[in-house]
Amino acid sequence: MLDQKKLDSLLAGCRFWEKVQCFETVDSTNLIVKDWARQGAEEGRCAVAEAQTAGRGRRGRSWISPPGENLYFSILLRPQAEASHVAMITLLMAIAVTQGVRELHLDAKIKWPNDVVINGKKICGILTEMYQSAAGSFFLVIGTGINVNQKEFPEEVKKTAGSLALELGADVDREVLLASVLRHFSDCYDSFLETMDLSGQKELYESFLVNKGRVVEVLDPKGEWQGTAIGIEKTGELLVQRKDGSVEAVYAGEVSVRGIYGYV
Ligand code: BTN
Repeated sequence: MLDQKKLDSLLAGCRFWEKVQCFETVDSTNLIVKDWARQGAEEGRCAVAEAQTAGRGRRGRSWISPPGENLYFSILLRPQAEASHVAMITLLMAIAVTQGVRELHLDAKIKWPNDVVINGKKICGILTEMYQSAAGSFFLVIGTGINVNQKEFPEEVKKTAGSLALELGADVDREVLLASVLRHFSDCYDSFLETMDLSGQKELYESFLVNKGRVVEVLDPKGEWQGTAIGIEKTGELLVQRKDGSVEAVYAGEVSVRGIYGYV
């Protein structure tokens, strides 16, 4: 079981420190936090669980969440921002996870927009859900799953999923990693709130971007095309250079990476 006291002490002084609550088994930490939000919980509340019975992934997929090995956590945010800022805030979590994992001397990178990968294997997924509150404002639930100490994966994800322990050859302390990720997120989020864009993180994000300098296939509904990823806009879109030298900003959901991963 995750150690609540250890987590509290690791997070002392952090803006999220009092607000992390450990659970044994839940349906989904995103749903727990959504319920808290509906009851008026303040920004920064965080739920972390040992296991999820109905872990949710992007595009309606499920997130396999076995007990005792990984991290599954969700945080509540109430930014004074617009719906268009949601994708940017999700990128901030990808940066924070990458920073936390890099402290273990692992070469974590970000596959745009927000999968964290090591050696081409996905070790983290992030699902941000936005809800309208009664007052007309909105709140965000950012759910993050990190494959920490898992050694075996079901057939359907075996080729694409990895874990920190498999990459490192040793188990990783989950509380230390979670505290580190939350501290990094807290810093990134504060910086985001100053400008309401990624100006403060763009350089760091690009240094983590696995797609940078690589050929990507843009799945544009009007026609697929290929180009070279060169970085991101300060609003989070991927910048892709066509063969004729022109550069386009691509929105999340339209692009996939060619050639380097089995899962795209
Ligand atoms: C993805 O499909 O890549 C996103 C996966 C997000 C999984 C996390 S685990 C914690 C939180 N609770 C959920 O039900 N989903 C997210």
